[in-house]
Amino acid sequence: MVGLIETLSELLSEHPLDLSCTRRTIDLGCGEGSFGKALFDDCPETFCGIDLSKRAIRLAARQWPDATWVLANADRVLPFADGTAGRLMSLFGRRPVTEIARVLCDDGQCMIAVPGEEDLIELRELVQTVGKRRSRWKAIVDEFADVGFKLQRQATWRHSVELDQPTIADALAMTYRAVRHSQHSRIQSVEQMNVTLHADLMVFQR
Ligand SMILES: C[S@@+](CC[C@H](N)C(=O)[O-])C[C@H]1O[C@@H](n2cnc3c(N)ncnc32)[C@H](O)[C@@H]1O
Repeated sequence: MVGLIETLSELLSEHPLDLSCTRRTIDLGCGEGSFGKALFDDCPETFCGIDLSKRAIRLAARQWPDATWVLANADRVLPFADGTAGRLMSLFGRRPVTEIARVLCDDGQCMIAVPGEEDLIELRELVQTVGKRRSRWKAIVDEFADVGFKLQRQATWRHSVELDQPTIADALAMTYRAVRHSQHSRIQSVEQMNVTLHADLMVFQR
């Protein structure tokens, strides 16, 4: 995703931690692990990605074999001792805030990314006629406040991409469980479309 890695990297460098590679970095819902490798390539020995999908963990391990990859459900107990992580990120993934608070050390940092209100808005308008805009980040600030974390920084990433018909169908399949017949024909008639990608990014610390 053009520019997202750079934006995340800037956020991390604005809030440097005095931990370098000495404490664990956890990626919750790491998927295929591309963000972890791009951001923490110099610290494979302390990087750990967690995901519920066997396929995702396999791909991640193949892509970056020097890091640690764990097949686990992040909604349950995280497989780490109290206060042993320096940094935790959840990029479009799960946010079990009580467990995040337990595993992060006192000066630990948490980086969260969630879809912004304009994310895929053109596709949502195509399917629903009126795309609903819903901002999630303020509710997440409240969730983290409840476990003693303050928002250090909030940023926005936005990018526009041109999608062809098969990619539009794939993107909709990932976003909506059921697309009605009438909506299906509306999608079929679109050959190309400019679509907005939008994410809200947050950094939290105690
Ligand atoms: C939207 S993807 C984001 C993947 C990656 N962070 C990225 O931005 O490319 C969400 C990921 O969370 C994983 N996931 C969903 N529920 C989970 C759970 N309960 N525990 C761990 N991972 C989970 C999915 O398998 C998927 O890889």
